[in-house]
Amino acid sequence: MKKIAVIGAGYVGLVTAACLAQKNNIVTVIERDLQKITSLLNGKVPFYEPGLDHLIISAIQTKHLIFVNNITQALDDEPEVIFSCVGTPSQEDGSADLSYVWNAAIEIGQSLKNYALIINKSTVPVGTAQQVKKLIQAELDKRQSSVNFSVASNPEFLKEGDAVNDFLMPDRIIVGVDCERAQRLLTDLYYPFLSHGAPLVSMSIASAELTKYASNAMLATRISFMNQMALLADALGADINEVKKGMALDKRIGGAFLNAGIGYGGSCFPKDVKALVLMGTSTGQRMSLVEEVDRVNELQKQAFISRILKHYNNTIANKKIGIWGLAFKPETDDIRCAPAIDIINKLLSLGAHVIAYDPVAMSNMQALFKNAVTFTQTADDVLKQVDCLVVLTEWQEFLHVDFEKFTVLKDNVVFDGRNCYPPEQLAHYGITHVTMGRQHASCAEVNRPFAIGSKAVTASAM
Ligand SMILES: NC(=O)c1ccc[n+]([C@@H]2O[C@H](COP(=O)([O-])OP(=O)(O)OC[C@H]3O[C@@H](n4cnc5c(N)ncnc54)[C@H](O)[C@@H]3O)[C@@H](O)[C@H]2O)c1
Repeated sequence: MKKIAVIGAGYVGLVTAACLAQKNNIVTVIERDLQKITSLLNGKVPFYEPGLDHLIISAIQTKHLIFVNNITQALDDEPEVIFSCVGTPSQEDGSADLSYVWNAAIEIGQSLKNYALIINKSTVPVGTAQQVKKLIQAELDKRQSSVNFSVASNPEFLKEGDAVNDFLMPDRIIVGVDCERAQRLLTDLYYPFLSHGAPLVSMSIASAELTKYASNAMLATRISFMNQMALLADALGADINEVKKGMALDKRIGGAFLNAGIGYGGSCFPKDVKALVLMGTSTGQRMSLVEEVDRVNELQKQAFISRILKHYNNTIANKKIGIWGLAFKPETDDIRCAPAIDIINKLLSLGAHVIAYDPVAMSNMQALFKNAVTFTQTADDVLKQVDCLVVLTEWQEFLHVDFEKFTVLKDNVVFDGRNCYPPEQLAHYGITHVTMGRQHASCAEVNRPFAIGSKAVTASAM
């Protein structure tokens, strides 16, 4: 059992705090947004993350989780470990805005009373931990304090929508350390999370910081690669889903992050890809491949809009366009950099009326678009009011729709930004189905064996 402080009650901070509290540690969460604190003190998680509210409520009840709104108050309790989980959003030029990281470090230096390991969990450029160390030391020097401390890097790999499971059962824990004491503390801390056999990988602080960017950039690269391949598939008469299936069976490639669509979004990939490009530029090592990943991602949204415009001969003024899905991916209400934002803005600028529904992200979008977009209570309510449907997030609710419902669409067309539906089924109901890379998906009833051998399967069964 350790006394731990976690700075920032966002997606990473709250999940970290709740999971560490579940393992019997006493965790104080510091959040400076008073609205978030009030909500948490009432046992309410300020965002949608499956399973998190349950963990938080039980940890509050057992007094393993405490919420305060300033670092000084938390450090009065002399925690041995301090996690920094503040945001690192993109600046205008694409570089990471580290002001929250610096402020947290300064506040720690101003109040630190005993030895502590300061663990940076935010995604930060290489060199940040060194700078954090200097800032804390400068504050200690100012008050002539001889308190010892260590700084480590421990990037977080959880994914929103399944964050609790990812934290409780990680693929791996990466720790960047430069002293044995930090290594020991981190090993003790994470021991209860490794019983399923995941490794704790120890490396230099710089390598740990870069590992996070390299991982996100690799995943983003796979997405952009498949998105560009999808446009080529349409141009050449192939079906990107069949291509994907053929590729994914190669063990060296695998199937993750190969779904073509309208591009990645969220609070991590867009900003981390841009920050990695900037890290390259600042060291004179241009990351041209990563630059292209970002550019392809932007172009993909335009390619989708072009398909809508092509269908309507370039005029969508006064069209009533229904949107299913606003969050950047299913199982989250996070709309940061969601492709839906750019796509809706474009549709509105071209004079269309937008009527939208999302199972959990609507209030966040409503705060952004106000009255410019009409929001409905249910997915069915959208269908009744619109000329066509645009699907932007592959929520389960949308995947399992009865396709006959699409027949109420006045223009009989579904623009499927996530390749959610089988083209032959929509064709059966007379619906035009515009996809990303599946325009040449076979609508004929041909049951071709996809692989010959003991595990012969049809492509559509995979
Ligand atoms: N969201 C994800 O899926 C995810 C996954 C892995 C890594 N990350 C990285 O983790 C970091 C945090 O991401 P997030 O999505 O949790 O951010 P977030 O914006 O949801 O949360 C950050 C929180 O920190 C609080 N904060 C900032 N400065 C503070 C201070 N001095 N004292 C107290 N509270 C303070 C903010 O008010 C905010 O609530 C980022 O660097 C991000 O790139 C995020």
